[in-house]
Amino acid sequence: MDNCGSMVLDALIKIKDEIDSTLTFRRSCREGICGSCAMNIGGTNTLACIKSIFDIKGDVKVYPLPHILEPIYEQYKSINPWLQADKPGLLNKEYSQSPEDRRKLDGLSDCILCACCSTSCPNYWWNSNKFLGPAILLQAYRWIADSRDNKKDERLDALNDPFSKSNSRNEAAYVKEGRSLNVTLHSSYEKSRPSEA
Ligand code: SF4
Ligand code: FES
Repeated sequence: MDNCGSMVLDALIKIKDEIDSTLTFRRSCREGICGSCAMNIGGTNTLACIKSIFDIKGDVKVYPLPHILEPIYEQYKSINPWLQADKPGLLNKEYSQSPEDRRKLDGLSDCILCACCSTSCPNYWWNSNKFLGPAILLQAYRWIADSRDNKKDERLDALNDPFSKSNSRNEAAYVKEGRSLNVTLHSSYEKSRPSEA
């Protein structure tokens, strides 16, 4: 370990380079920005590039995220994750937003889609065909909350499923539930422990 960085990802890269080239994992930025290196380390879903080896007592146990990820990409596509602002006269012009409206996106636009939260959620494990899960619900809300987007009604209607929301037209309730769901799950996912860990 003398010539190894202090993060779990550094150790994995060293093992792949020097001991076992068949070891396979995803990574890109090594800065906690891209979300590629999300994995379960010692029973906690987290990012390997920002998880210090020295914060772990005993052997470092590494597992894949406790759920297959394929549904997440389809679900992400399903929420139309881009600004829909088909207002006349906007082509090739800056579409500004007040600082106050921009602040409403704080904490929403920061999601890096690492999927640590959704793959910590037992309801998502069993019902990912019906339930978008915390990561995609947060992303959906990020566009609903954007003052520049004018497809809010359509976005809310599309979220009308028994797991995500019972009445998608009730925006105030959705906003409140969506925020608390994601704040709660985001702050608690690190404490979750999958059954195989
Ligand atoms: S909300 Fe979920 S997917 Fe987004 S950064 Fe947080 S843990 Fe990762
Ligand atoms: S490598 Fe990008 S978040 Fe870890």
